Amino acid sequence: MADVSLKNIYKSFGKTEVIHGINCDIKDGEFVAILGPSGCGKSTVLRMIAGLEVITAGEIAINDEIVNQLEPAERDIAMVFQNYALYPHMTVYKNMAYGLKIRRMSKAEIDERVRNAAKILELTEFLDRKPRQLSGGQRQRVAMGRCIVREPKVFLFDEPLSNLDAKLRVQMRLEIRNLHEDLKITSIYVTHDQVEAMTLGDRLIVMDNGYAAQIGSPLEVYEHPATKFVAGFIGSPAMNFLNARLSPNGDSVEIPGNVKLPLENGSSSEHAGKEVILGVRPEHFKPARDEAATLHLTVDHVELLGADTLVYGRFTDDKTLSTLRLSDVQHLDKNTKLPLTVPPPKIHLFDRETGNRIGR
Ligand SMILES: Nc1ncnc2c1ncn2[C@@H]1O[C@H](COP(=O)(O)OP(=O)(O)OP(=O)(O)O)[C@@H](O)[C@H]1O
Ligand SMILES: [Mg+2]
Repeated sequence: MADVSLKNIYKSFGKTEVIHGINCDIKDGEFVAILGPSGCGKSTVLRMIAGLEVITAGEIAINDEIVNQLEPAERDIAMVFQNYALYPHMTVYKNMAYGLKIRRMSKAEIDERVRNAAKILELTEFLDRKPRQLSGGQRQRVAMGRCIVREPKVFLFDEPLSNLDAKLRVQMRLEIRNLHEDLKITSIYVTHDQVEAMTLGDRLIVMDNGYAAQIGSPLEVYEHPATKFVAGFIGSPAMNFLNARLSPNGDSVEIPGNVKLPLENGSSSEHAGKEVILGVRPEHFKPARDEAATLHLTVDHVELLGADTLVYGRFTDDKTLSTLRLSDVQHLDKNTKLPLTVPPPKIHLFDRETGNRIGR
């Protein structure tokens, strides 16, 4: 069991700095998902925790012991990769036992740990099979089994499910969550899949280009994204962004076309009168009643998804396509005009220059 603390972590490859100061205290037993687009530095952070990359500056501590100088094997960490290579000529049992054997553990102890892990992962009946006689999901479980038997202080996962098909991914996601509930081993899980991160993580570290743009629970990140980047990255379909201006007294936001959306009290006095970006999630538009607070969406096309409907269209004076999600099936013709509004608590505002969130 272990706390993991990242203090001002930097990483450069040659002259190029790719991680620009990450801070995060991960509590014992916590499941933290590192989420972000390709190339933002997720694997690099994980590999530094594992000891596979040297840390350029900063400190990584496990249970208050600074591990910067420790070899990977001394850190008591187990890592599951996307390309987990099982030994093809060994049975499932031997694949799981191998790491313990080279640590010279006794046969009896190895046997107990392997059988126990196989039970947790429901692999008992496959212990005598070779990897090629298993499905993708079963192989993935063997890869996790190899880590579990080591009883590490920390589990690190780097996109472990991305080679699996969509259905299996959902199933394995649940299994990983259940496993975590059982074992309560501190886990750090890298993914670019926001659904995976949101469903697995107690907390998320959302990374943007080598920075931690936001660290928070899945709901905090969804409801109060700290930057426009986070807002656009979390949520599917993505949040809509419109150019807008705060009213001189900061109590409403004005959109071209004479639309004024009222804001919750005291949202943003210091930005009063300034150009801002208004963010609205597709699921947060409501039918409008008050004409002054009505955005008119001209329908371009509609996707009927069965349970709900996605409507793509353009607001007056706006060239980009916006998305509206309706929680039922609706057939709408092209060029239909929909009068919409946004309830004040669902309005997100971002600074046009910095992209930082304005207000609460
Ligand atoms: N050994 C290396 N030498 C030089 N640059 C590297 C090295 N490893 C990674 N980088 C660079 O560091 C940045 C972060 O890479 P990293 O692998 O951490 O991204 P990632 O978020 O894991 O992306 P992905 O989702 O594609 O796996 C990238 O710009 C990458 O090109
Ligand atoms: Mg990666």
